[in-house]
Amino acid sequence: MSMMSMPKPLSNSSIFVPGPVLLLGAPGVGKGTQAKRLVERFSIPQISTGDLLREHRKNQTELGMLAEELMAKGLLVPDDLVNQMVATRLTEPDTRNGYILDGFPRTLNQAEWLDRQLADSLLPVVAISIVVPERILLERITGRLICPVCGTIYNMYSEPPSQLGICDREGATLTQRADDTEPVFYERMNAFRSKTAAVVEYYRSHGGRFAEVDGNLSMDEVTRSILATLFELRNATDSLESVQHEKVR
Ligand code: AP5
Ligand code: MG
Repeated sequence: MSMMSMPKPLSNSSIFVPGPVLLLGAPGVGKGTQAKRLVERFSIPQISTGDLLREHRKNQTELGMLAEELMAKGLLVPDDLVNQMVATRLTEPDTRNGYILDGFPRTLNQAEWLDRQLADSLLPVVAISIVVPERILLERITGRLICPVCGTIYNMYSEPPSQLGICDREGATLTQRADDTEPVFYERMNAFRSKTAAVVEYYRSHGGRFAEVDGNLSMDEVTRSILATLFELRNATDSLESVQHEKVR
């Protein structure tokens, strides 16, 4: 069993165990928004490589300083550095029942590395690609506001806080990401098209563990569709039936 293999899930048969779930998609499709909802529902961690890199940047680590320059230009951070960062995070015990990888893998090299790491995993990775037309994404990116304390994601057009610029939960002043500008958005889209689109095809061609969901719907509808997809990919028929009748939030 490789170092990264998942230990036996701590659950009985009546509890759904998500296992490793990948959320793939272009900048602004809703990976972070939906990952947070899955975290609340399943009590498994969100592992966002973007957030981890921003944390390194904040702490001025060697990796953070290197990443800062690349992220500011909308370019990808080198595979070996990101893989190592993910490897370290996956050794944490909170990953035992699964985790949501948000924004990883983003290159074929990262996808193949992850497959090798998880070769002996009890539950195989499932990949869910969120799809939104590019013309919608620019507004999502330039309108995004984030709480620096709790990480809640808002949008000044589609998900505004009750009080302008203030987090509903923490009362903190909301911030914008340094790379959420129009020119950097286009660079990030270039990186998505040239590197990450191939990752989507990689999982699509591996049949049985891939699905696409329409991300251009309300946040609740996207959540419902991701849950249904996840249950289907994991053959969890009971859970699949229940999500079709319940309120998702
Ligand atoms: P990362 O932080 O991952 O950025 P990204 O992929 O560009 O994705 P975003 O976080 O911008 O979008 P999201 O899909 O999470 O959308 P969100 O839910 O916030 O990466 C940043 C950088 O780090 C990269 O450019 C690269 O340099 C580096 N990096 C990271 N991972 C790497 C890797 N693996 N390898 C190499 N380098 C890496 O939603 C966006 C907005 O839309 C929000 O305002 C939200 O409120 C709104 N919204 C969400 N859903 C809906 C909806 N259904 N309807 C209306 N509005 C919605
Ligand atoms: Mg994100």
